[in-house]
Amino acid sequence: MVVQTLRSIGGYVGAVAGSPVRMITPTRPAPRRAYDETLRTLSEASVEKYFNAFKDVDWDAPEMATDEDDERWILPTLDLLGAHPWYQSLPRARQIEVGRHRLTAMVKTGSQFEQLLLLGGTQFLMGVENGDPEFRYFMHELTEETHHIQMFQEFTNRVCPDVVGAPGWLMRSIPLVGHLGALYPALFFAIILAGEEPIDHVQKEAMRAGGTHPLLDQIMAIHIAEEARHIGFAHAWLEEHAPSLNPVSRLALGILTPLAMRLGSDAIIIPSRADRELMGLPDEVVREVWGTGPEAAAFRRHLFADVRMLFDNLGLRTPLTRWSWRVLGVDGRPARFRAEPPTVAA
Ligand SMILES: [Fe+2]
Ligand SMILES: [Fe+2]
Repeated sequence: MVVQTLRSIGGYVGAVAGSPVRMITPTRPAPRRAYDETLRTLSEASVEKYFNAFKDVDWDAPEMATDEDDERWILPTLDLLGAHPWYQSLPRARQIEVGRHRLTAMVKTGSQFEQLLLLGGTQFLMGVENGDPEFRYFMHELTEETHHIQMFQEFTNRVCPDVVGAPGWLMRSIPLVGHLGALYPALFFAIILAGEEPIDHVQKEAMRAGGTHPLLDQIMAIHIAEEARHIGFAHAWLEEHAPSLNPVSRLALGILTPLAMRLGSDAIIIPSRADRELMGLPDEVVREVWGTGPEAAAFRRHLFADVRMLFDNLGLRTPLTRWSWRVLGVDGRPARFRAEPPTVAA
């Protein structure tokens, strides 16, 4: 009885939200040749090139030593906090300490986000029919995420095990958000982009600017290589499925995606209160660095230029939804092509 009621609720929410209503549609989807080909290419690439968290990271190499007083933890000026006068005026030892905490907090939050991806991803896969190539590729992706989580957690354990990562309210909402993988997969794939795009952006910018500590650089290089496939799949999935969503669900996707973008990027970029206390980061500095200033606004806009391009192409940024992008501070010029350098993208 309880199970039946839950299924009815799930079916109703899915129908309203425009999920592919897998629970009530027994037939196989129509052939999707170009899309299937993309999935086959992604799946084969996942078999050809993949990484193992404990074989492919030189954890114990001498140059990877994670000493607490290592100057390589000092934040680069490319980081908004690293460039701020408060950080610049700190004694060298405090710069190292704050930098070590900040970098590890971002890594830990990345690991928590990827655990959410596993949670929702397995719920999504439960509904995929036999023979659908989405199953194989997405399972490859989840396999890769398990190694990313292992890498991020091992880094956290070695470098700064005191960090907390994402804010408590967000951690408590994760089990609920995971249900979107089954109930409203289009929003779940938008949430995947809300986490993967900022992480990828920050990692690429750090590597372009010359890198950080070599252990983190090695982890970021592995992550960037595999995330290219993941981000490509999320874009392809939305291109394939968003056009057939019902109007209510398209409208909801257009309005809720900017919210997911803002919450996701803030959680990854801005240290949670617990981590700010650990770092000794004053509230006024937090407001100046990540508040309403022009640098923070520009940084936020840059993170989602690719998603704006995707949503424009899908007709999901319209006069009825555009306000949400503006209000949440993630509006701006769309990228002209995927991974366009941010200095010209927005
Ligand atoms: Fe990942
Ligand atoms: Fe990923």
